Amino acid sequence: MHGFSYKNGSLHCENVDLNELAAQYGTPLYVYSGGTILDHFTRLDQALAGIDHEVAYAVKANSNLSVLRLLATQGAGFDIVSGGELFRVIRAGGDPGHCTFAGVGKTRDEIVYALEQGIYSFNVESEAELRYINQVAGELEVIAPVAVRVNPNVDAKTHKYISTGKSENKFGVDFEKIEDLYARAAAELPNIRLRGLQMHIGSQLTSVAPFIEAVEKVRPLVERLKERHGIEFWSIGGGIGIVYQNSLESGDPAWWNDRLPEDLPLTIERYGKELVPRLSGLGLKIVLEPGRYIVGNAGVLLTRCLYEKKGAAKTFKIVDAGMNDLIRPALYEGHHEIVPLNEPAAGTPVTADVVGPICESGDFFCQNREMADFQPGEAVALMSAGAYGFTMASNYNSRPLPAEVLVEGDTATVVRKRQTLEDIIAGEL
Ligand code: LLP
Repeated sequence: MHGFSYKNGSLHCENVDLNELAAQYGTPLYVYSGGTILDHFTRLDQALAGIDHEVAYAVKANSNLSVLRLLATQGAGFDIVSGGELFRVIRAGGDPGHCTFAGVGKTRDEIVYALEQGIYSFNVESEAELRYINQVAGELEVIAPVAVRVNPNVDAKTHKYISTGKSENKFGVDFEKIEDLYARAAAELPNIRLRGLQMHIGSQLTSVAPFIEAVEKVRPLVERLKERHGIEFWSIGGGIGIVYQNSLESGDPAWWNDRLPEDLPLTIERYGKELVPRLSGLGLKIVLEPGRYIVGNAGVLLTRCLYEKKGAAKTFKIVDAGMNDLIRPALYEGHHEIVPLNEPAAGTPVTADVVGPICESGDFFCQNREMADFQPGEAVALMSAGAYGFTMASNYNSRPLPAEVLVEGDTATVVRKRQTLEDIIAGEL
């Protein structure tokens, strides 16, 4: 489900008219549907209802304080990858005791900060890091809770930049070596507590099969680690994919009903149905680290068309958002539906490229796509931009970061002001 639909000829987020938001706050503008975020969180929570579990939202997908606060009030935990993300979670009212700290390159300052705040677990990516955390914890005279990330060598069949569970990826410790590492850690590292095991095979998985394969492969290992070292949790990572195509129609439950089961291999209900029996009976807490599933389809990036340019070979629609605002098409060939805020009359579509103002050929949102023939002055929504949209935005070309608005029912709140030019140069000499 998501909260975007046409009402009276204008695209709305819940009960708020997006044309009005674009006029009031300017473009480019990120808009999030609070109701959608809560719906996704609740549905995942319910799909896992049969087992002891914790949903640790992956902050990197969308780290706006108001989004974090919304999830914190639902009792979410958080999966963080930096001291900065931990700082945000705490500021948003989240509990550090429900934070897992992932990432291959944690610095001393970050480790100290996380230990001081009492996080639930470090998800450790290498033996060198494990030894370093042990050393820092020793200096602070505390015990650091850790889980090592196992690389199960399973093919997630997703884009190569977001596939992480194969041996050739930089993530985790090889499946074959991990038991030996736990045994040595238990014997040699007095300042760590082996609290769990973690895995994550990749992002934007659109089939449940790789999840099943990884869980089945790793479960016997988890059982042995529990027996030998008394681990308490198993994090199975994030990675649940979302529908990027047809993202407007797919907000209507009828759209899904028509397409199940053939066209839609991964739904949250199927994820739960397949995984719960395979994860139950372990006597362990199962941690999930979803990012994109919670927020991806809950956000759009509004942008206004500035010019149309009919070249010899192509038509270009030039908009005021660029790859600095939403880098997914340039970086991963990510697909985002482009939906005019004024409901298009049934008419002849055009084939065009939608491009941004940045001086790079990679600065496009789509190429040769058939779409409604929106005109300069009109605004459009880049759909499914709630995950890895704003968090990956930059000041490239000295463009200010966009504002962010959170919609809850009839109410729209600016939850991040648009950057000013002064903000951009603050701190420079
Ligand atoms: N856990 C770990 C250890 C991760 O590395 C990630 C994502 C997640 C959880 C959350 O994954 P999700 O549920 O969101 O798939 N910027 C890329 C995605 C990068 C994902 C990085 N790791 C994109 O825009 O597609």
